[in-house]
Amino acid sequence: MSANTGSIKVGDKTVELPVRSGTIGPDVLDIGKLYAQTGAFTYDPGFTSTASCASGITYIDGDEGVLLHRGYPIDQLAEHGDFLETCYLLLYGELPTAAQKSDFDYRITRHTMVHEQMARFFQGFRRDAHPMAVMVGSVGALAAFYHDSTDITDPKQRMIASMRMIAKVPTLAAMAYKYTIGQPFVYPKNDLDYTSNFLNMCFAVPCEDYKVNPVLSRALDRIFILHADHEQNASTSTVRLAGSSGANPFACIAAGIACLWGPAHGGANEAALKMLAEIGTVDRIPEFIARAKDKNDPFRLMGFGHRVYKNYDPRAKIMQKTSHEVLAELGIKDEPLLDVALELERIALNDEYFIEKKLYPNVDFYSGITLKAMGFPTSMFTVLFAVARTVGWIAQWKEMIEDPGQKIGRPRQLYTGAPQRDYQPISKR
Ligand code: CMC
Repeated sequence: MSANTGSIKVGDKTVELPVRSGTIGPDVLDIGKLYAQTGAFTYDPGFTSTASCASGITYIDGDEGVLLHRGYPIDQLAEHGDFLETCYLLLYGELPTAAQKSDFDYRITRHTMVHEQMARFFQGFRRDAHPMAVMVGSVGALAAFYHDSTDITDPKQRMIASMRMIAKVPTLAAMAYKYTIGQPFVYPKNDLDYTSNFLNMCFAVPCEDYKVNPVLSRALDRIFILHADHEQNASTSTVRLAGSSGANPFACIAAGIACLWGPAHGGANEAALKMLAEIGTVDRIPEFIARAKDKNDPFRLMGFGHRVYKNYDPRAKIMQKTSHEVLAELGIKDEPLLDVALELERIALNDEYFIEKKLYPNVDFYSGITLKAMGFPTSMFTVLFAVARTVGWIAQWKEMIEDPGQKIGRPRQLYTGAPQRDYQPISKR
């Protein structure tokens, strides 16, 4: 076996397969020709050992707790930049110059309004619909409103669709919130920055002035940066798979939102806060730790564990700090949920079960407490994640569409059903 090949033996046949190296991270064994050469597929449910694509956008080293966007560490982006700068970086590959940044901000800001008929479209949803259900429907519906940006073979249309989604998803998210609480929709305001505008659309009402708190706006902006992209996670892979058939971008992002909704993925922030509320007081923590460890109990500590991070999630560290900043700004000295979270984290990090399985708090562990303090109901938490992740999905979708070697995604399977048999007329069954 040479340095840049690996070999696989299937039955009595040994085949040499190319090994490909990235700029950093583990090498990959290119098995593209394995079936042609051996007649065997690989089997990897959950893709635990499978790289589904080559990508230059985001890098994660789960053992070291590293997250880089286009090479830049997440903590540096969150500390020094704003969310739209991270959006630019993810989309274009480089940090913007001052002129590029103000042009980008201007273009996004000018796309924040949605077609007025969208407001009537919303009336079709039940008032008590979960805002994530409204997001799946309304983002998918953008394809029906913006026909001039659905031709994915045209780079100009691709970019307009991308801008539209980064700009309009927050507007739809705020509308989803306003709709469920029965308040009038608030139009975007172009003199506000991206995140302040979002807070204004969520919390302003026509009958009185609303002034965006800059500390909360900065904190939410940082939360958006932390959630902007995360390599080939379930929702991103969903967007890529949907997009690989040539589906229009709005439909692909709606597919990503649907996937994000699940409690094992973006729904975990909602689930984590519900869990902290259920635990309620510090003295009940041991009972829940015992349940999490019990093989016969399906209960898991929500906001703990990650498929990739087997060390502290670097986003969780920044999230914890942001959480403290928000509570201090709002003068919340006594937040029982934060007490439960801190104690739960302390106990879990010292417990043999969690140490051995390398289960650490993930980004969702502290985000719920922070968002709750800002005034968002739990049902909006995953929606906020979707607002932030939209740019990651788009950047990954664009990268795939622009790859000349791109093919439709078509996994194979290990068939375990009945072998071939003959059809029996209904009278003979
Ligand atoms: N609480 C208790 N035990 C756990 C937990 C947990 N949160 N997470 C994993 N384990 C155990 C699990 O029971 C298994 O034990 P064993 O080996 O004895 O069967 C072992 O750890 C490995 O778990 P796994 O399910 O095989 O790991 P996975 O990589 O498939 O799952 C995960 C990753 C994130 C789905 C899982 O850790 C989990 O369900 N966590 C809670 C939900 C959550 O917080 N999700 C947010 C992820 S971060 C945001 C995002 O990316 O969307």
